[in-house]
Amino acid sequence: MATSATVEEQAKLVETSKRLAAFQAVKDYLLPEYTRIGIGSGSTVVYVVEAISELGSAVTSKMAFYPTGSQSEELIEAAGLNLQYISKLPAGQQLDVAFDGADEVDDDLNLIKGGGACLWQEKIVAASAKQFVCVADFRKLSTRLGMAWKKGIPIEVLPMAAPRVLGELQRMGSQNPRIRPGLPGKAGAIVTDNGMWIIDAPFPPLLLPKDIEAGSQTGNSTAGVWTVDALADALIKIPGVAEIGLFYGKNGLQLASGAQKPVAAYF
Ligand code: 5RP
Repeated sequence: MATSATVEEQAKLVETSKRLAAFQAVKDYLLPEYTRIGIGSGSTVVYVVEAISELGSAVTSKMAFYPTGSQSEELIEAAGLNLQYISKLPAGQQLDVAFDGADEVDDDLNLIKGGGACLWQEKIVAASAKQFVCVADFRKLSTRLGMAWKKGIPIEVLPMAAPRVLGELQRMGSQNPRIRPGLPGKAGAIVTDNGMWIIDAPFPPLLLPKDIEAGSQTGNSTAGVWTVDALADALIKIPGVAEIGLFYGKNGLQLASGAQKPVAAYF
């Protein structure tokens, strides 16, 4: 009984932390003059939408909300907010801000995302925003990616390429990469909103530039010890990989479209 009370208490603490982070993020980063807002996926984002709804229709009716997949689409609709699609955003225009969760956040605010299998659309929406706000509870903070989120880096792949991608990942030093199974009760692999599969690829904790500067590490080796940037560059080049769940500031989102490194992670 004592154990189950502790588990319940922990779960409550996590929910409180998510909610506080979401309300703080909306208070700090959703300015009333904004008109285009990205809404990510996962359980934390539910609180983001709750916080936005509490601003009232006098504020929110002037705003359009852009989802990162079917879950956030339903969330936006259920809250009675104005649902729009990134596919209709005119070329050259941007969202004012995008809010999303993460599975892990490192010292430099690089992220692992994709625990909910929405990473491809999440990255497109993040890259379309002037500001990307990561909303995360205390469990997500980690000094190096891979230390807290042990399931591996989510990688969205074309199903026919999955066996070959698995082989490449093993060659790169991933420890036991595997195709993510379907949700409980669903046979086979999980299928994303884009008709793809997800491979989860565990690697040893990913190094940061400061680790390389500090000395002995090279950050790119067959032993599977990589920097965030080097691994991201290598993964995205594997034929059949559609997108990867590493969200990293300088060389990823920013180069792709001028979007920002995450400006805030709350714990
Ligand atoms: C989905 C994601 C989510 O943002 C991430 O998994 C965090 O989810 P949660 O807020 O439920 O912990 O990347 O693909």
